[in-house]
Amino acid sequence: MLFKPKFATILTLIVVSSCGDSFLQVGAVSQQQWDQLNSTVNGRLQAAVPFSRPCFPDVAQDVLGEFDEDECATVQAGYTNSTVRVGVVGSYMMTQWETCQATSEQCLLDDLDPSDAQAFSPPQVCAQGGIPPLYIDVQEPADVQAAFSFSQNTSVPIVVKTTGHDYSGRSSGANALALWMYNLQQLSYNSTFVASGCQESSAAPGVTVGAGVTFGQLYDFAEANNITCPGAAELSVAVVGGHLQGGGHSALSNAFGLAVDRLLEVKIVTPTGEYLTANSCQNEDLFFAIRGGGGGTFGVVMEATIRALPQLSFPAVHFDFNVTSETERELLQFIASNSLQWAEAGWGGYILPKGSMLFVNPFLSMAQAEEQMTSLQQFVTTNLGATFTLTLQPSFLTMFNNFLLPPALPVGLPFITTSRLIPAANFASNESQAELVDRVIEALDDSPYQIIFAVTPYYFKSPGGTSINPIWRESLWHVLGSASWNYNTTTDEKRAIYSNRTSQMDLLREITPGSGAYFNEADVHEPDASASFWGDNYDTLVAIKRRYDPNHLLDCWQCVDWEGPSAARFSCYL
Ligand SMILES: Cc1cc2nc3c(=O)[nH]c(=O)nc-3n(C[C@H](O)[C@H](O)[C@H](O)COP(=O)(O)OP(=O)(O)OC[C@H]3O[C@@H](n4cnc5c(N)ncnc54)[C@H](O)[C@@H]3O)c2cc1C
Ligand SMILES: *[C@@H]1O[C@H](CO)[C@@H](O)[C@H](O)[C@H]1NC(C)=O
Ligand SMILES: *[C@@H]1O[C@H](CO)[C@@H](O)[C@H](O)[C@H]1NC(C)=O
Ligand SMILES: *[C@@H]1O[C@H](CO)[C@@H](O)[C@H](O)[C@H]1NC(C)=O
Ligand SMILES: *[C@@H]1O[C@H](CO)[C@@H](O)[C@H](O)[C@H]1NC(C)=O
Ligand SMILES: *[C@@H]1O[C@H](CO)[C@@H](O)[C@H](O)[C@H]1NC(C)=O
Ligand SMILES: *[C@@H]1O[C@H](CO)[C@@H](O)[C@H](O)[C@H]1NC(C)=O
Ligand SMILES: *[C@@H]1O[C@H](CO)[C@@H](O)[C@H](O)[C@H]1NC(C)=O
Ligand SMILES: *[C@@H]1O[C@H](CO)[C@@H](O)[C@H](O)[C@H]1NC(C)=O
Ligand SMILES: *[C@@H]1O[C@H](CO)[C@@H](O)[C@H](O)[C@H]1NC(C)=O
Repeated sequence: MLFKPKFATILTLIVVSSCGDSFLQVGAVSQQQWDQLNSTVNGRLQAAVPFSRPCFPDVAQDVLGEFDEDECATVQAGYTNSTVRVGVVGSYMMTQWETCQATSEQCLLDDLDPSDAQAFSPPQVCAQGGIPPLYIDVQEPADVQAAFSFSQNTSVPIVVKTTGHDYSGRSSGANALALWMYNLQQLSYNSTFVASGCQESSAAPGVTVGAGVTFGQLYDFAEANNITCPGAAELSVAVVGGHLQGGGHSALSNAFGLAVDRLLEVKIVTPTGEYLTANSCQNEDLFFAIRGGGGGTFGVVMEATIRALPQLSFPAVHFDFNVTSETERELLQFIASNSLQWAEAGWGGYILPKGSMLFVNPFLSMAQAEEQMTSLQQFVTTNLGATFTLTLQPSFLTMFNNFLLPPALPVGLPFITTSRLIPAANFASNESQAELVDRVIEALDDSPYQIIFAVTPYYFKSPGGTSINPIWRESLWHVLGSASWNYNTTTDEKRAIYSNRTSQMDLLREITPGSGAYFNEADVHEPDASASFWGDNYDTLVAIKRRYDPNHLLDCWQCVDWEGPSAARFSCYL
């Protein structure tokens, strides 16, 4: 028997129709319908088992897999390791998305000590939570087309998952059918790539990347091909999934733009069932939407071609430090007073206010970099007593290995972000800089992880065609705070943590009217989310969404034209 009858039971669901006003009662999906789907996708319909399942003697109804002490030890050893988690379909980087937060159904370990038996011994029970019980291991466009047809016929919701990094849970969903894109692994380079239907004269160096390729793979590939493909400060993020479609920043994005700025073409299956090529010469509306409108919304991207840069060597400033509250303020004041001129000169990178800074500039010689950074060097040496280094990095990969391992943001725990884009106007006077610094410090005060990303495309001059909030291009900082909890935190405490994080960022929202936040690293309860993520592009994005997804088969949290928090598919959110 292919499916235990219980699958049919749990996939019984009530969905609100896309009109929003009538309820559609959907009966159990029959075994025959599942079998038919499985045969259409050549047997690649599979059951997803929660990552920590092997540790639990007791499971809730419908959870598959086995209790196995050896496998449990492997899970425990890799619990907070993104390289381990990325390849497991039943794992999510922010583990609250493996759970149903509203019902507390979960299958989690103690992230502070994964060997802590209290988390997995009876009476603890492993439940499926927010992990889609079934997924298709996608290998070709026809798999995705079958899934859309199935969802249309049965009203079973679809979610797209590649790596499970999404901070707002957009790649998980209780009782959904997941499309797992991770095994689409092609990677090729063409130094004279011409987007389909475009003029030969538009030829540009392009890397074509399958949906499952991660930045770790791309960086190695770029190095081997003597080119540069900048990307995330975390090796297990996918190149063409949510990162690309929501913006995509890197240490070089002030200089060379965001991922959306370097996109040449995508191949995408739309919810209408078409397999389309979108670029600046055909399906331009879809191309615009993919360049910032967000993942999981307009279709399922099978592959993308991204402009490659030549191999680059560049100066990098790096230092680690310890701060007191006094020196932290002085440091941020110093950085704030220089941020505009640094951005205008092409500098970008990461500032961790309590411990380190990495800044790079691909346009300067070492001598020029030294001259521009003399005052920072003096400040760091004198005021922080830290060791300042300025070194020539022979490639992006070397820079990554020297400075971005281990990553600055954790995985394998319940973790949320909150953030704000800070426009250049906030840096215009000494008074506004001082106010900004005061508020940044207060807003981030009890964030366990906090970063000031100097990754906005301020230096880079965009030729247009992207759908991110235009405020990105007038901003100098993307300020990020966070909060985390553990497996046994109560629902009331979680609600309090969420709401604290949201209200704390009001300190920065108040002084940046009309600005916004980065879709991929925003607050789960981002106020006025559509305006914040897309600004004036929102209405156009809604029109494009309705053109390519007229039956609203794709939906995700705070995504373009979403149904809103009370829709059935979001019932696990707090
Ligand atoms: C540790 C960590 C470090 C990060 N570092 C950076 C960084 O340096 N720069 C940066 O810009 N961002 C960074 N991010 C944020 C990252 O860009 C987002 O989490 C992004 O959504 C991840 O995309 P994914 O496809 O890998 O993840 P997933 O969770 O698998 O998917 C994310 C979203 O995209 C959709 N999606 C995935 N694949 C496809 C596809 N093929 N077609 C259509 N929709 C798809 C999903 O449905 C979901 O909505 C980081 C996140 C983490 C957790
Ligand atoms: C789908 O079919 C394959 C091959 O017949 C089988 O191995 C797999 O278990 C089936 N999937 C489910 C969910 O039963
Ligand atoms: C994470 O797992 C990978 C793959 O097993 C391993 O190579 C790496 O050393 C691990 N990282 C840490 C920090 O343990
Ligand atoms: C959906 O229903 C149509 C019409 O009955 C049918 O042709 C199609 O095969 C179904 N799709 C799937 C994936 O079952
Ligand atoms: C690279 O792209 C050009 C232009 O489309 C094409 O003529 C050529 O065959 C491609 N080369 C490879 C190796 O695919
Ligand atoms: C690598 O690329 C750089 C920059 O384009 C070039 O100067 C260098 O000669 C190339 N090296 C090799 C081995 O091709
Ligand atoms: C910060 O302080 C800790 C504890 O005193 C010390 O171990 C560490 O080396 C210091 N780091 C730097 C960069 O000075
Ligand atoms: C800030 O104050 C300094 C010293 O008082 C002055 O030189 C500088 O021009 C001021 N900067 C701005 C942006 O007003
Ligand atoms: C949660 O678990 C930890 C570790 O097992 C324990 O120290 C703590 O007291 C627990 N907290 C609650 C609220 O139960
Ligand atoms: C929320 O914020 C208040 C005030 O800053 C603080 O007292 C409280 O401990 C915070 N609660 C949580 C759960 O973080």
